[in-house]
Amino acid sequence: MRQHTTSRALRVLVTGAHGQVGAELARCTWPTSVDVVTFGSAELDITDRRAVLNTTAEVTPDVIVNAAAYTAVDKAESEPERALAVNATGVQHLADAANTTGAMLVHISTDYVFDGTKDGWYTEEDQRNPLGVYGETKSLGEDAALSAERSIVLRTAWVYGALGSNFVATMLRLASEREELGVVDDQVGCPTAAGDIARAVVAVIEATDGGRSLDSATGRNRVFHLTSPTDVSWFEFANLIFKTSKAGFNGRCRPLSTDEYPTPAARPANSRLDAMLLHDTFGLRLPELTEALGPVLAEMETGR
Ligand SMILES: NC(=O)c1ccc[n+]([C@@H]2O[C@H](COP(=O)([O-])OP(=O)(O)OC[C@H]3O[C@@H](n4cnc5c(N)ncnc54)[C@H](OP(=O)(O)O)[C@@H]3O)[C@@H](O)[C@H]2O)c1
Repeated sequence: MRQHTTSRALRVLVTGAHGQVGAELARCTWPTSVDVVTFGSAELDITDRRAVLNTTAEVTPDVIVNAAAYTAVDKAESEPERALAVNATGVQHLADAANTTGAMLVHISTDYVFDGTKDGWYTEEDQRNPLGVYGETKSLGEDAALSAERSIVLRTAWVYGALGSNFVATMLRLASEREELGVVDDQVGCPTAAGDIARAVVAVIEATDGGRSLDSATGRNRVFHLTSPTDVSWFEFANLIFKTSKAGFNGRCRPLSTDEYPTPAARPANSRLDAMLLHDTFGLRLPELTEALGPVLAEMETGR
């Protein structure tokens, strides 16, 4: 457990603090009046109901931010029980703990709750229809989170950052190892920087006064899309990474179809999330991909 202590106005408990989003929440700038208490998976396993209830009773948070998840999309197909335990049952534990302590639960979800067949951008009104185990368990997790009296679900997508493993890190590694790469060009989504997600979570917590004015701040909406407004295919994303990175890529990068790159889990072809509701409600608009990617690459390539 890591705690940044100030005179208490608001206390925020963060789970999954060593993941991409969790680590950014742990290091980002919070208002000085906020105490942030972060837990990695070894310190708080959200599948352990007793541990969740005991820890929240001890910390007495005003807000619980759940950045913990089972995110191995392909592995989830062969470990459905584990994925369900973390992504749904664990979230229910947090929702129950939030109800017990009167906290607001801020839960992070995913574009993979959709099947990707929509012609256009997905809004919060669209029907969920996940294609695989990961998406199914995350969809159940949304329901679990929304069972908390005060809760917000923030759906994000294609997360990358300087901390942790992700598509950007993989592309940089492959560019240094290979002369030719194939990258899927018929799945489109909105790559979103973990740091931008963390800053938006802080802003949402501030805007709702830690959940105390949730209804008046959100007009009773509970699910929001939280993504960068730029849509690209994985292939286009890879090329932008090579173009923006210091090391670049001198080899050949060719577009692949999903059929040419089979994976255990099916993925939505269209992952475009419309984040207008977040903008209209909280005045938040995440940076375009070209703006967000540079600083992340700079940190990855120079350690700063
Ligand atoms: N990554 C993406 O592209 C993406 C896309 C859309 C939405 N999201 C959502 O965004 C959120 C954050 O994702 P991320 O990219 O930061 O994921 P991540 O880097 O995989 O981090 C998830 C963290 O959760 C922890 N965790 C796993 N099981 C746990 C448990 N039982 N109890 C407590 N902690 C546990 C993991 O710890 P260990 O490593 O020790 O297991 C890990 O540190 C998730 O809700 C994810 O579904 C991610």
